[in-house]
Amino acid sequence: MSGKKATLTIGDKSLDLPVLSGTMGPDVIDVKDVLSNGYFTYDPGFMATSACESKITFIDGDKGILLHGGYPIEQLAEKSDYLETCYLLLNGELPNAAQKEDFVGRVMNHTMVHEQLQFFYRGFRRDAHPMAVMCGVVGALSAFYHDNLDINDAEHRRIAAIRLIAKMPTMAAMSYKYSAGQPFMYPRNDLGYAENFLHMMFATPCADYKVNPIVAKAMDRIFVLHADHEQNASTSTVRLTGSTGANPYACIAAGIAALWGPSHGGANEAVLKMLDEIGDVSKLDDFIERVKDKNDSTKLMGFGHRVYKNFDPRAKVMKQTCDEVLTALGIHDPQLELAMKLEEIALSDEYFVSRKLYPNVDFYSGIILKAIGIPTSMFTVIFALGRTPGWIAHWLEMHSAPYKISRPRQLYTGPVQRDFVPMDKR
Ligand code: SDX
Repeated sequence: MSGKKATLTIGDKSLDLPVLSGTMGPDVIDVKDVLSNGYFTYDPGFMATSACESKITFIDGDKGILLHGGYPIEQLAEKSDYLETCYLLLNGELPNAAQKEDFVGRVMNHTMVHEQLQFFYRGFRRDAHPMAVMCGVVGALSAFYHDNLDINDAEHRRIAAIRLIAKMPTMAAMSYKYSAGQPFMYPRNDLGYAENFLHMMFATPCADYKVNPIVAKAMDRIFVLHADHEQNASTSTVRLTGSTGANPYACIAAGIAALWGPSHGGANEAVLKMLDEIGDVSKLDDFIERVKDKNDSTKLMGFGHRVYKNFDPRAKVMKQTCDEVLTALGIHDPQLELAMKLEEIALSDEYFVSRKLYPNVDFYSGIILKAIGIPTSMFTVIFALGRTPGWIAHWLEMHSAPYKISRPRQLYTGPVQRDFVPMDKR
């Protein structure tokens, strides 16, 4: 509590509202007392609303800062790895060597899914979008773990966290294999987390498959860059779903569904489709004009962000990784040049500059994923896989203290009360 207060004056009434300070970021005004004075607050899209207190991740949108447990994303991407970042998100501290070995061991020994889970996949059409499959299969996980689903038991919550981090790559790879008509590949405990995922994606029973270490490292870094992002739409969905007491698998399935939207995690797939539609640099100026045309719903996908009004630090690391991976793999992708030219044009155009629209995490990620061999339809699944520890960390944090069911109110502008009209009078 900061001891500071905000005074709200409505007519002849004044209401003192507490102002709370965190360790970083803006102070917040605690508005709950407006209710007892007969008012609701109004903030569609939650542009200025803090829905909770959290210690997990901090974002400064004006300075392009993203911290997990206080550590800058640039340092984690360069010096840490994904499972270490998962540990940090879940526990608030980087693990020491023994803690890391134990955590990695527990995750890698839970990567198999129940053998019956494979039959859920067979119910989908082969051309089902992998995100549709993931929504269904992850939600169905609760059917397999009803014995460990007492969400009021911290040990049960911890087991669920490990299971979800461990099994998401397996289920994601299965959703790809099913769409490709290839046999599922079992996880391997002797491989690293990202290496194991890529092995399940691209290996077949017909021959040995060695994952390129450059590709494995790039995949791991992409997971790190997607691991968490404060109270974004899908994480808020997980928290809201969790506030009803729903089991963690249902909460994560809700997060996956929310992430799928093209305004959110679906943007990475939309960026590649946008670059395909543009075709080549000669068409860029026409495309930009369409984006700026108020009568045209075309958006520059992978650009803009509710919070980042300067630059998305993840986009900078992603662009650098893109250069590194394509160079190391000897890949010349004209879409990378197209994306860089599109960025250059947009960043010098008043429409984008005045609206503070910069590349976000999704602008370059698809180009790396394509270079790795991931099909476009799997891009958002990769985002969901990477974001799983963030969703779980927020779910655990919510359950670590008393909480109330999330139930927003509204400004009602519908019909005032009236009596029912019988059919012969309508
Ligand atoms: C993610 O929240 C998170 O943290 C999300 C995320 C995470 O890690 O969880 O960072 C991941 O979702 C990144 C964002 C991915 N989405 C896209 O790349 C889709 C394209 N971007 C836009 O849809 C948009 O920028 C949003 C949804 C990301 C943000 O929307 P806001 O904050 O509601 O902003 P807005 O729509 O009110 O835009 C303000 C203005 C508007 O113009 P005017 O009405 O003022 O004239 O900017 C324009 C918008 O039309 N605008 C764009 C644009 N984004 C905003 N115009 C063209 N192209 C765009 N991409």
